Amino acid sequence: MRIVLLGPPGSGKGTQAALLKERLGVPHISTGDLLRAAVAAGTPLGLKAKAAMDAGELVSDELMLGLIEERMGADDVKAGYLLDGYPRNLAQARALDELLGRLELPVQRALSLIVDEEAIVQRLAKRAEEEGRSDDSEAVVRNRLQVYREQTAPVAGHYRETGLLKEVDGIGTVERINQRLVEALG
Ligand code: AP5
Repeated sequence: MRIVLLGPPGSGKGTQAALLKERLGVPHISTGDLLRAAVAAGTPLGLKAKAAMDAGELVSDELMLGLIEERMGADDVKAGYLLDGYPRNLAQARALDELLGRLELPVQRALSLIVDEEAIVQRLAKRAEEEGRSDDSEAVVRNRLQVYREQTAPVAGHYRETGLLKEVDGIGTVERINQRLVEALG
């Protein structure tokens, strides 16, 4: 299956993708993970992306399109994909439609995890303590949420218009939410 996972920062996209990829036998493609790997390796992409990531801002559409074009062109994607973290604004959504149309691998379902901001702030504060991810400080989380509201939330509307969107309650145990996602996939 070819799936886009949507939802605010900390809504559980990565956690759920790890479970769904086993069940569906498709790669989990997380642009956040790809960027963090590039930063850790000190690649030119990582060096360009780091400042925006640390501030909780979006990395430029141009850099992201290069990254996603390269990844979606790989052979394993032909089996399907779980895309997490892309698209993050309407320009990226349109660019992705164009790219996937060209590859003949269009999105079949967009799953959107619904989690309120209070729960998100609590989850990410816990992760900040446990893992020390550089963009999980309270101030940066607040900015990530604002960027989400202003730029990323409209992406759900893009998929609603084409009838691909399913919204799923993202509060509860990881297992229960996974069950809801599986049900939403039909
Ligand atoms: P990215 O890595 O995509 O960050 P994000 O969307 O903010 O997502 P997170 O990884 O924080 O959350 P998640 O929804 O995956 O939740 P998770 O499962 O981890 O992006 C990072 C940065 O990269 C961006 O800010 C931007 O700068 C850049 N970037 C990436 N893509 C880009 C793009 N397309 N364009 C431009 N820039 C881009 O869970 C969060 C926590 O909650 C974990 O600790 C987890 O254990 C816990 N948790 C999960 N489920 C539950 C549950 N049910 N109950 C309680 N806790 C839970």
